[in-house]
Amino acid sequence: MSASVKELQEFDREHIWHPACQMKDYEDFPAIPVVRGKGPYLYTADGKEILDIISSWWCNLLGHCNEEISEAIAKQAKTLEHVIFANFTHPYAIDLVKELLTIVPKGIEHFNFADNGSSAIEMALKIAFQYQHQIGQTQRTLFACLSDGYHGETIGALSVGSMDLYNLMYKPMMMENIHIEAPDLFLRADESIETSIEKAKAVFEKYHDKLCALIVEPLLQGAAGMRIYPKEYLKALYQLCKQYNVLFIADEIATGFGRTGKWFACDHAQITPDIMCLSKAITGGYMPMSVVCTTKEVYNAFLADYSEGKAFLHSHTYAGNPLACAAALTVIKILKRDHIIEKANVLGEWLSEEFRKRFEALDYVGQVRHIGLINVLELVKDKNTKQRYPSSLRVGYKIYQDALKEGLLLRPIGDTLYFNPPLNIQKEDLIKAMDLAFKVIDRNMKQLREKI
Ligand SMILES: Cc1ncc(COP(=O)(O)O)c(C=O)c1O
Repeated sequence: MSASVKELQEFDREHIWHPACQMKDYEDFPAIPVVRGKGPYLYTADGKEILDIISSWWCNLLGHCNEEISEAIAKQAKTLEHVIFANFTHPYAIDLVKELLTIVPKGIEHFNFADNGSSAIEMALKIAFQYQHQIGQTQRTLFACLSDGYHGETIGALSVGSMDLYNLMYKPMMMENIHIEAPDLFLRADESIETSIEKAKAVFEKYHDKLCALIVEPLLQGAAGMRIYPKEYLKALYQLCKQYNVLFIADEIATGFGRTGKWFACDHAQITPDIMCLSKAITGGYMPMSVVCTTKEVYNAFLADYSEGKAFLHSHTYAGNPLACAAALTVIKILKRDHIIEKANVLGEWLSEEFRKRFEALDYVGQVRHIGLINVLELVKDKNTKQRYPSSLRVGYKIYQDALKEGLLLRPIGDTLYFNPPLNIQKEDLIKAMDLAFKVIDRNMKQLREKI
């Protein structure tokens, strides 16, 4: 390292605009220069170790600098780094799709590549819209989506998201959509799933002939605060779509590749979405890649003589990038060969038990919940009423800063804290993360209580 940490931070603050941040915060809390990674650990330029318990925004599936993935990419880089994917193909994408066909829900048969989650969502929305148009359902122009859903940051993706934090500023640019109130098993815990299903039914009854598609994050609403809803609700939404000929889009960008305990969250409900979006963990967090997968029925609506104008004229420069294909292929190979998802499920059960033992009884913890290896806790001001601290206190953010000083990358969503580690993390690293998390949370919550 030639530049000192201070120099790196100063240059960074001067010129680099980081994602989803108020850059003024960097004046007091500059970006941390990371120079190396191994397994669940990151290493900073000044030699500190940070335990990345959130898989670097949920994408790092098999640890940092996993040797097999690194080697596969290096080998690929010496063979073919990239080629235009229009009118060209390559064995690396073909091998990847052959593997994807063995794991995706039965009936998914076509794969369209892009390079990030939001782009996949844009593509899915356009495919759904054009599909309805091309089968003669031109009045179906609206999308239905769930309250507090999140599908990315581009304008189309924001439009089918429901989180004001990200949307509000851009409302005049966004398209109108139909919002369905999703279950909230924390704040509205006494509301039954049947009630939530009734609410969805009412929306379908009112708007069904105008609906083009419903888009959901299956089972887990990540950005909403790792909210989990039962598979019965997912299945009911799917059935409503089938009943009213509305396309069902599953955004498996955060949930795919074992994050919820099965290859895909839709597998829990045994459903095959019409359109499924994949990204994040697909390359183990190595390369930007996303895939929009569809059934034959959807794909066939676009097949016609060119003169009919039915082609899906959508492209991304890096579609089908061979380096990303090599990474994704290796990820699937490792997941299958080493039974990673099965092992992560065993670890997930153990971790959830430990979470309960350690955190559930604390008077500032409103709820502990889990799915797969994802474990979540809600910090509250009042355990009985579930009242939260005012957001102006930035409780989660302060815990985040304090945890980093202790060597733990814990990035709360508001006051919701969670672990979403690589699936092959070792038990001792989870124990270490729990010890550090407890130390930091307890310290901060006690200080907060003394102040208020
Ligand atoms: C469910 C879901 N959909 C879409 C996205 C957007 O993906 P990207 O950040 O790659 O654009 C995310 C990102 O967190 C996500 O969690």
